[in-house]
Amino acid sequence: MKLPAFILPKPNMLKTVYIETYGCQMNMADSEVVASILNKNGFKLCKDINDADIILINTCSIRENAEKKVWGRLKSISHLKKKKNGLIIGLIGCMAERLKEKVIEADHLIDIVAGPDTYRELPSMISDASGGHRSVNVLLSLEETYGDIMPVRTDPGGVSAFISIMRGCNNMCAYCVVPYVRGAERSRDPESILREASKLFEAGYKEVTLLGQNVNSYFWDSGNKKVNFAQLLERTALIDPLLRVRFSTSHPKDLSDDLLHTMAGYENICRHIHLPAQSGSNRILQLMNRGYTRESYMERIKAIRSILPECAVSTDMITGFCTETDADHEESLALMEWAEFDFSYMFRYSERPGTKAARKLKDDVPEEVKKKRLDEIIALQNKLSARSKRKDIGRIFEVLIEGFSKRSDNYLSGRTSQNKVAVFPVKDKKAGEYASVRIEICTSATLLGTIV
Ligand code: 5AD
Ligand code: SF4
Repeated sequence: MKLPAFILPKPNMLKTVYIETYGCQMNMADSEVVASILNKNGFKLCKDINDADIILINTCSIRENAEKKVWGRLKSISHLKKKKNGLIIGLIGCMAERLKEKVIEADHLIDIVAGPDTYRELPSMISDASGGHRSVNVLLSLEETYGDIMPVRTDPGGVSAFISIMRGCNNMCAYCVVPYVRGAERSRDPESILREASKLFEAGYKEVTLLGQNVNSYFWDSGNKKVNFAQLLERTALIDPLLRVRFSTSHPKDLSDDLLHTMAGYENICRHIHLPAQSGSNRILQLMNRGYTRESYMERIKAIRSILPECAVSTDMITGFCTETDADHEESLALMEWAEFDFSYMFRYSERPGTKAARKLKDDVPEEVKKKRLDEIIALQNKLSARSKRKDIGRIFEVLIEGFSKRSDNYLSGRTSQNKVAVFPVKDKKAGEYASVRIEICTSATLLGTIV
């Protein structure tokens, strides 16, 4: 039974919220939206979980391991609930969407379950939970983009920020849970994106990353006004030449020459494209429902190399997808070698309930084979990453300084336009400034040089 609003205490007044985020950059951006919604509703954010009246865990479902991590975390914080009377724990994001009421039934630790399109409801859900009512809302929306909400940055005074430009995904890759947990694709009003980017620049940020599951299919259509991704990128780049613009993720089937030419026209659009291949085998690509072939993927890489010769390319690869043979795996290795990826994110296939692969295909590659293949592609990528960095030795790059290096305050660390980390001795420069750095040596992960 729900109590009438007038006899509920005003639970949100100055209550303190701690938000912990798992998963992708989109989730990081979402946590900043959640922070903003809660701030506006009178909640205070805190950095120490022990200070919190409300703990929100923003979760990821992409692989079984991502979910296991969250369950582990929930277990490790369960003692806080005994320590603090009335402590509210909320599970939000993709896992909330996937598991819905089951989470509450299975685990009495959790008071709130909120899917990715319901964050505007969090203040009232917290209110309900404070009144002793567990609260679940996992409705997906066809419209919600949180476009009007200016996210609260978790690192005020930072250098680089994410901007979510669209939500959801329409691609239906057979292995992927995203369309089920984040719903259909919808693009955000370009004016609100540009406003956010300008405000970030005014606040001192020097880099924005435009985020979406498939940014190339960004499209805003409000009748008389139509904006595609290349146009949005160009307008963002025009905010100021000192504002670097990145974007992620590009889908190989939708990466247009038009976009590559737009990138070529602006130095402040970073020379890096994340173009997940997933596999090098046509048979597997088809089973994955990726919508491109090995040959058309290679053609896209050739287009990048010819229009943007300085551009780094990274990828995602999955090993051991359903029915993958040694020969398919060899094709993945060969594609990676051919493309000379500058870096890669590599995963073993993990079956996700409800996806097309889970419904129609057998997860028949043994775990040890998936693991062995993964080890092989990681070893190959390490070789390619080292090769890519060695090529930079002797060259000068403009580096956007992010802060001191992890190891020592005598060194600064930042990124080149190609998204490679460069470390160099401090010399009258600081975070948020650009430095011209000559690269002298490298490891497989880092470029080392000096300011010239
Ligand atoms: N198993 C393994 N990896 C996956 N990815 C997405 N779904 C799965 C899955 N079920 C990987 C893809 C994607 C990246 C974000 O995560 O490579 O590009
Ligand atoms: Fe991001 Fe996908 Fe994980 Fe959701 S499931 S947090 S969209 S990676």
